[in-house]
Amino acid sequence: MKKISCLLGFLFCVQGLFATDGHQLWLRTGKTIPVKISCDRHSPVLDIAQAELLQRWSGKENATITLAIKKDKWIQGDGFRLHPNGVEANTELGILYGVFELLRRQQTGRLFDDEVSNPSYQLRILNHWDNLDGTIERGYAGLSIFWRKEDPFTVTSEDMKRWKEYAVANASIGINGAVLNNVNASPLMLSADYLTRVKAIADVLRPYGIKTYLSVKFSSPALLGGLPTSDPLDPAVRAWWKKKAEEIYQLIPDFGGFVVKANSEGQPGPQDYGRSHADGANLLADALQPHRGIVMWRAFVYNPSEKDRARQAYSEFVPLDGKFRNNVIIQVKNGPIDFQPREPFNPVFGAMKKTAVMPEFQITQEYLGQSVHLVFLSPMWEEILKSDTYQGGKGSTVARVTDGSINQQKNTAIAGVSNIGLDTNWCGHPFAQANWYAFGRLAWNNSLTSEQIVHEWITLTFYQDTIRETIASTEWNLNFLAPVKAMMLESNEAAVNYMMPVGLHHLFAADEHYGPGPWWAPKNVRSDWTPPYYHQADTAGLGFDRTTNGTNAVSQYHAPLASQWSNLSTCPEMYLLWFHHVPWTYSMRSGRTLWGELCYRYDHGVQQVKDFQKTWNQVQRYVDTATFMAVQNKLQLQTRNAQLWRDACLQYFQGYSRMPFPSDIEQPMENLQDIIRNDMKKRR
Ligand code: GCU
Repeated sequence: MKKISCLLGFLFCVQGLFATDGHQLWLRTGKTIPVKISCDRHSPVLDIAQAELLQRWSGKENATITLAIKKDKWIQGDGFRLHPNGVEANTELGILYGVFELLRRQQTGRLFDDEVSNPSYQLRILNHWDNLDGTIERGYAGLSIFWRKEDPFTVTSEDMKRWKEYAVANASIGINGAVLNNVNASPLMLSADYLTRVKAIADVLRPYGIKTYLSVKFSSPALLGGLPTSDPLDPAVRAWWKKKAEEIYQLIPDFGGFVVKANSEGQPGPQDYGRSHADGANLLADALQPHRGIVMWRAFVYNPSEKDRARQAYSEFVPLDGKFRNNVIIQVKNGPIDFQPREPFNPVFGAMKKTAVMPEFQITQEYLGQSVHLVFLSPMWEEILKSDTYQGGKGSTVARVTDGSINQQKNTAIAGVSNIGLDTNWCGHPFAQANWYAFGRLAWNNSLTSEQIVHEWITLTFYQDTIRETIASTEWNLNFLAPVKAMMLESNEAAVNYMMPVGLHHLFAADEHYGPGPWWAPKNVRSDWTPPYYHQADTAGLGFDRTTNGTNAVSQYHAPLASQWSNLSTCPEMYLLWFHHVPWTYSMRSGRTLWGELCYRYDHGVQQVKDFQKTWNQVQRYVDTATFMAVQNKLQLQTRNAQLWRDACLQYFQGYSRMPFPSDIEQPMENLQDIIRNDMKKRR
């Protein structure tokens, strides 16, 4: 007995050495090593930069670091120069970002001599889909950090502490904007009480360089202001928005601007009054312009009477190119449908030449296993950013057509739908923090590789001081960093495999967007909200024909993509069923039939997750117990979910292919009828 308790005590002690609840994110504070700072100015931003250096310095003891604001023609915007003795920048925020980069370099051991780093996008923004009652649309990490139902207007010290921690985390990765509320906005957002709370939030975020923005409901003049209309050309409506903007800027002089979801999924918009998206966006742009605010007008529009949802953003927005004010940016989801595990890039990126366009990514894993599945999203975003639109010839990647390299635009921006909530570890899944981190890093530098990002994140998060003292870096690199990195880099493709391989999309059950439901099509639901609309399975084959024989959505892409993708034999297989209705017996590049390939991919996805479980089990020694157990449990669930995805989709599609399961894959564990009967919700 004594022996056992000794052993337990020892284990507890070893584990306790680096116990963490995940709240510190990638910003671990280890032992403080003294450092001297030379900086000849004071300001809230510079004071924070210095405090961060003092708190987190892990370099040479008593080194002197100089923080200097000076004009340097190589530095742009809030960029900075790192050199052996410190940081130089044109702006105070540049100094702050440089300090965080310096600390990151120390912790990850990446050396530098003299290096300039400039942001790819001027505006690097998180979109919070937080409702004023504290719930979060598509949020899987607890309630909102900004809003709450009870006592909604009191600002507590707990609120302030959380907002400050949030601000530090964002500043450390260069995020400089936060949209505080859901795109499905309440008109109350613009009421005096709520604006007072926005001011309180903005005051906390400001010294960290984070501007606040709000989502607004287009019909606010009528709903909140009591006007008879919200018609964008009505003088009273224009006056209402102008006055509202003045009221906001009185409270928040550096307010960033508005995000608008209009004429989309039932939200009101200018089309309700026979006006265009440009009329609507310009109305708000004019109200914000005197204050230098911007409008991020979303292109996420689709309407049930059209025969292909994937075509619609392009059809509605491209004819309006050049009609928007220069403080409007069209905010475009990465793919033409909706944050699916894999989509080709949205053709709007390649089509707007005279209007600023910004990418919208989804950090919260609405369609990628929510807070249960381990899915590192950076490879997906990297794939999109590096996709060539051919807008101005070869090399016109999504990154370059949105960051100002190709088109002259006043503002450049990128947005990510946040995965942050009140959970202690902020994001639900410990590994979901990596997606917040990756978004910030890619927004700062859209040519970073996922490999570099994940290397940084794992090191910052898991290679803490306490571990450094007990485990040599060579051992840690080999036994922890390498396998965990490989697992993370593979995780997105694994999810594509077990959910929707070969270009399949939107096979989700009901509207919770978690489990499989390729059969789900109740009579009273819009067909473009049901999976059969997207997979089009029949006894002849599978997939959505978007070629000239079908909806011709492929024609929205420039040459050579349009012809490459519309030809079955040159279409990349990862987009095959996105663009083509393919016979079950079609011969794939692997030599398998389409049916065989589907079976192989679904099964391979399951095997990949099983391997993730093994990888994780093998690294137990390097992780604190709580994190280890949490991730282990989630991986078990993910494996069961992946199996279910495979069994459900393959058995359902087999009803059309009428072909047998190949003998070299695992046979379904559960019968389709049982799967359909058992609500997926109960399996989480
Ligand atoms: C998806 C998501 C909705 C969200 C919408 C949007 O459809 O399921 O919850 O409101 O995207 O981006 O506007």
